[in-house]
Amino acid sequence: MKKVITYGSFDLFHEGHYNLLKRAKALGDYLIVGITTEHYDESRGKLNVVDSLMERIENVRKTGFADEIIIEDHVGQKVEDIQKYGIDIFTVGSDWIGKFDYLKEFCEVVYLKRTKGVSSTMLRNKNRSIIRLGVIGSGRIARRFVPEVDRVSGITPTAVYNPHIESAQKLAEEFDLEFYMDQLEVFFDKVDAVYIATPHETHYEYARKALLAGKHVLCEKPMVLKRAEAEELFDLAKKQGVVLMEAIKTAYCPGFVQMMGLARSGVIGNIRDVEACFTRLTRSEVREMKDKVYGGSFTELGTYTLLPIIKLMGTNYREIRFDSLKDDNGLDLYTKTNLIYDRGFATMKNGLGVKSEGQLIIAGTKGYILAQSPWWLTRSFDVRYEDPNKVDHYNVNFLGNGLRYEISDFVYMINGYEGRTFKMTPAESIAMADAMEKFLDSRKS
Ligand code: CTP
Repeated sequence: MKKVITYGSFDLFHEGHYNLLKRAKALGDYLIVGITTEHYDESRGKLNVVDSLMERIENVRKTGFADEIIIEDHVGQKVEDIQKYGIDIFTVGSDWIGKFDYLKEFCEVVYLKRTKGVSSTMLRNKNRSIIRLGVIGSGRIARRFVPEVDRVSGITPTAVYNPHIESAQKLAEEFDLEFYMDQLEVFFDKVDAVYIATPHETHYEYARKALLAGKHVLCEKPMVLKRAEAEELFDLAKKQGVVLMEAIKTAYCPGFVQMMGLARSGVIGNIRDVEACFTRLTRSEVREMKDKVYGGSFTELGTYTLLPIIKLMGTNYREIRFDSLKDDNGLDLYTKTNLIYDRGFATMKNGLGVKSEGQLIIAGTKGYILAQSPWWLTRSFDVRYEDPNKVDHYNVNFLGNGLRYEISDFVYMINGYEGRTFKMTPAESIAMADAMEKFLDSRKS
């Protein structure tokens, strides 16, 4: 019996997939089809697969060509499968010519001619117009953000707004954006969605105006500095039927999402304590060190450390206490925050003028999770137990500077896949704003 194997995502199943499977089956007597998991696609940078794994399996099954369907979930699996299943022929479309020659050591490799004029990417883009994204602000974060937009399909950076037109022009020229403006109304006309990358205290007004103009909003963290403002913006977004998302990049990283899921799975028992530290020594002339009202380490870095705490311990803490070391202007150079819950504690440490080990420890009744610096760009973490010899180590792929994951989820949400909200819920964003408000009140007093 001649055994053939082929692999793919088979997203939005189309004629090209059908033809490929038909011809793959005709190469032998038994066809195995490997279908990629979402996680694997994500880790290899394919961020916008639309159909769920079950839908994609069902579509392949319905063709009747596959004698067996397997799941592909990691790099190197093809070499394993070919040996495990005793494969004679590996086949794939001609878009991959040469890429799988390394498998010739194990079996015959056949590249089948690709069907012209159709692909999942084409279909993904066809049914919906490409989202035109406008960037509000043209500083440091905007510069890091714009190139990452190009890594996500279905969205394109189109315009930039800055009340200082020269600054907008500079960014537009640097990244070849079509428009730069200093008039918000004109800017809104050119875009479907906005990314707000301005100083914290200006977020609320920009977000409100953008939502009122019917634009989807991805807003840098901290989204706002008052609970009531966050509540108002989420209500407004709902009323307007648009997406409002807080851009805490960590929340959307595959590794962080996996770590949160694992922490909740019971492997470390009940969670009783979360300690999160993020410090960054910085130059004295930057905004966060100069702005006496809204600058400082808590407003700058607090959202990162608060994220795992709120995700795992909840938004219902009994008490929150801030202790800060301040500079002559009253700006916190280092803040230690303690939260008391009914059934546990949490501590966060943030510094712009004090450096510490940036780690995250999630302590449970059976073990703990340790994620080393930079845990906020989650690439790896350990699950550890009483027995020091027992350590489960997790490595997760992390591409670029991580911003592409939040952009990809933003696109999913705009296209109506609301399931993605769990990564950063409105209630969590509101709790962030609430903590910011409490901190700023306590610093003032
Ligand atoms: N394929 C094909 N003809 C097409 C499209 C895909 O023969 N027009 C083949 C691919 O070469 C591969 C298999 O179908 O062997 C599954 O490909 P997949 O990557 O899932 O589909 P694409 O349409 O290429 O997806 P994307 O646009 O996301 O890359």
